[in-house]
Amino acid sequence: MKRISLPETAHGIVKEYLQSGDAAIDATVGNGHDTAFLAETVGATGHVHGFDVQTQALRATRQRLQQQGLEAWVTLFEVSHAEMARHIPNPLHGGIKAVMFNLGYLPGADKCIITQTQTTLRAIAAACRLLAAPGVITVLAYPGHAGGDEETRCLAAWLERLDAAQFSVETLYSHHHQETAPRLFVLKKIARSAIMRPFFQQQIGAMSEFKNVTIVKQANVYFDGKVNSRTVLFADGSKKTLGFMQPGEYTFNTADPELMEILAGELDVQLPGCDWQTIKGGESFNVPGNAAFTMKVKTASDYCCSFLK
Ligand SMILES: C[S@@+](CC[C@H](N)C(=O)[O-])C[C@H]1O[C@@H](n2cnc3c(N)ncnc32)[C@H](O)[C@@H]1O
Repeated sequence: MKRISLPETAHGIVKEYLQSGDAAIDATVGNGHDTAFLAETVGATGHVHGFDVQTQALRATRQRLQQQGLEAWVTLFEVSHAEMARHIPNPLHGGIKAVMFNLGYLPGADKCIITQTQTTLRAIAAACRLLAAPGVITVLAYPGHAGGDEETRCLAAWLERLDAAQFSVETLYSHHHQETAPRLFVLKKIARSAIMRPFFQQQIGAMSEFKNVTIVKQANVYFDGKVNSRTVLFADGSKKTLGFMQPGEYTFNTADPELMEILAGELDVQLPGCDWQTIKGGESFNVPGNAAFTMKVKTASDYCCSFLK
């Protein structure tokens, strides 16, 4: 089987979205190959914003840009990409046509300085919000090095929860689907609005109430009544629970996969193999089947849990 170059594939995909005059972000400038590619594509009438946490990466990138005469329309920031939204000018929010991530470590430098799951996820969430529609995010991930395996796994799980009405997600491999093989995640924004927008504005908007359902009389009571819910049965055989959680820490076990919609309140959740994430009223998360997950409920939270089969 022919081996595909994932960096070249990423460039090819970005070129379909990016034109002269556009704005783009390189979230991990490294030695500047992607930055230079983006700068060349948008030209002098466009702009590229680049992020890296290593001085030597920014130095190498600046040098590359100068050699190629591209530096005038590139702004480099020595800050984590998780902070990108604070550094991108407001008029460009929702107008960025392409964001490139190349995870892992800087080739030829300290291999201990690698991208980290938590900041990578925050950065990709920010990129999703900054992105124009249509627009594209490419994320080159390397599960073959220590830390890269967890980062890739959590990222793949996180991408599964992206609103499919707004983003299509594709995973490309260079050769074959080995666990440790590098992979390119391609996120294409297909509708104008933000990630995890309040779900009562999306499909639940039409479902702020459930009609023609059966309610089980007896309450489900957990953790001495600090968490309780009622079961709602639907004509098509599906089931939801509508519940309420008081502040506290709770671990649940699932049999079926679940969609947890937090109607009000705020909590931190730890899903299997992932870091803690904060979920606020109006946001949702998916839990896989046959798993355990823990929630630290910070303020009393109202929820709707849908059992997915
Ligand atoms: C694989 S290299 C990027 C290669 C680069 N795209 C190129 O074309 O040369 C990964 C880069 O991510 C950077 N990095 C690590 N953590 C970061 C963070 N939180 N924010 C921004 N960059 C980060 C590293 O310093 C490293 O330079």
